[in-house]
Amino acid sequence: MGAGAQKAKSRELLSLLKPSKEPGIEIKQKRAMILGVFSCKGGVGKTTTLANVSLSMSQLSKGNVLAIDANLSAPNLGLHFGELDPKLTIHDALAGEVPVEKVILDYHGLDVILGSIAYGEEVHLVDLKGLLDPLRSKYKVILIDSAPGIGSEVIAAMKTCDEIIIVTNPEIPTVASTLKTFRAAERYKVPILGVVVNKVRNEPFELPIKDVKKALGWPIISVIPEDIKVREATAAGIPVVSYDPKSPAAVEFRKLGEFLAKHVAKS
Ligand SMILES: Nc1ncnc2c1ncn2[C@@H]1O[C@H](COP(=O)(O)OP(=O)(O)OP(=O)(O)O)[C@@H](O)[C@H]1O
Ligand SMILES: [Mg+2]
Repeated sequence: MGAGAQKAKSRELLSLLKPSKEPGIEIKQKRAMILGVFSCKGGVGKTTTLANVSLSMSQLSKGNVLAIDANLSAPNLGLHFGELDPKLTIHDALAGEVPVEKVILDYHGLDVILGSIAYGEEVHLVDLKGLLDPLRSKYKVILIDSAPGIGSEVIAAMKTCDEIIIVTNPEIPTVASTLKTFRAAERYKVPILGVVVNKVRNEPFELPIKDVKKALGWPIISVIPEDIKVREATAAGIPVVSYDPKSPAAVEFRKLGEFLAKHVAKS
């Protein structure tokens, strides 16, 4: 075959390799499940739960997990990872200054998007769902930490989630205010995966777990003891599952991570 004929043959082959313009079958890449951690009441342990569960899930699935601080008005997920003043944050991405892919940081194999502690401006309604959309094909699961209360930033975060976990403590006022979070989830039709009862001390004044379940009417997926090691770990900026893996709270956080990893794999 001459050089000219050879070129013509190559062109013909290349044209066959071009993508067809005919409508074909769209193969959708699996998209990450977005799981959020919520509670109306502050200080119940949302961020602690999110940090420990995300790290456990990432260790189980060798990466593929992204943890995001969507507590935009008072972010502090970074503190749990020893990152006091992250250079790139979710606030930069939301302001459109940096593409969202560029604000992802690595914490021992877990991808994290943190918030800016220095961010002092009022938080306006944000399109969190739109912001995270390009990341959904890159992960198995995206975990979102949220602010307390039931304001617009909490609702924006909630509507972004495929399912949510509600954290509470076994005390009557906390359980009572947790009901507001359930109502919001029902109003916005966001499925609830279950309840984490954290900081359990088994004191006589606490609500027994069966009563927490009865009051809330949802499955309790984890019971985490009050554990001094969690406070030490928070102060050290290391999730307790790494700081003291054998401590009672670390054992329960890891079990919750395993439960969620199985749940994500099934869905
Ligand atoms: N199981 C636990 N045992 C002991 N201390 C805990 C436990 N869980 C969380 N804490 C501590 O409680 C404090 C509040 O936890 P955390 O910041 O996770 O709560 P939060 O619900 O995210 O608060 P906020 O509503 O302000 O975001 C932290 O100092 C943390 O170390
Ligand atoms: Mg928090």
